[in-house]
Amino acid sequence: MNHSGEFGICRDESIVTARCRLRYPQESDIPHIWSASQTPNFNDGLRWSPPDDIAEMSEPFRAAQERWTSGEEYSWAIESRADRDFIGWISIRREPEEGVWSIGFWTHPTRQGQGFATECAAAMLEFGFSRLNASMITAAHAPWNTASGRVLQRIGMRCVRRNPTGFEKNREWVEELEYEIRPE
Ligand SMILES: CC(C)(COP(=O)(O)OP(=O)(O)OC[C@H]1O[C@@H](n2cnc3c(N)ncnc32)[C@H](O)[C@@H]1OP(=O)(O)O)[C@@H](O)C(=O)NCCC(=O)NCCS
Repeated sequence: MNHSGEFGICRDESIVTARCRLRYPQESDIPHIWSASQTPNFNDGLRWSPPDDIAEMSEPFRAAQERWTSGEEYSWAIESRADRDFIGWISIRREPEEGVWSIGFWTHPTRQGQGFATECAAAMLEFGFSRLNASMITAAHAPWNTASGRVLQRIGMRCVRRNPTGFEKNREWVEELEYEIRPE
């Protein structure tokens, strides 16, 4: 069986939007993730620090697949419906509080500014509320990351607080603006 977690999300399942298909990540995505991660400043607003060598990408990639199997987090590669080209990555992760999930996303630098993050983040909210039965979905971004903030505002999320200790990166706290949305 390729079902995973209590919600029975299948690995061969996809989410279709106007221009994109969100699907289970495949090894062939790694060179695209690597290429995005090598763009100057691309990783600054992301929690991860990419490895120094593409060969070391397999381990975090497999870890993301394992989180899917355990139902802890569903990460989707975003591809173009028109030509199946890689566009980006979007995840929805289970938070400790019952019924609460959080979303995170990025688009490849060659694909930014075309509405793809907005289109796919809206689809991820719909997936969270309808398939994961989320009672609340959260997100966060560093205050300087206004592109991310605009995506979240466009999909109807509300900024609820500023958290000075959002996440730790390079041994320093990164401040974050936190957002929420409920099904209603
Ligand atoms: C933040 C990030 C995900 C935004 O992705 P994106 O794909 O460029 O976002 P969108 O294209 O949906 O929105 C950006 C712009 O495209 C515009 N846009 C929307 N629909 C469009 C369309 N159909 N055609 C052209 N442009 C469009 C939007 O108006 C928006 O412009 P604005 O912000 O000036 O209003 C991207 O910059 C990124 O990956 N950054 C690095 C990683 C990162 O920081 N991730 C977020 C961590 S919290």
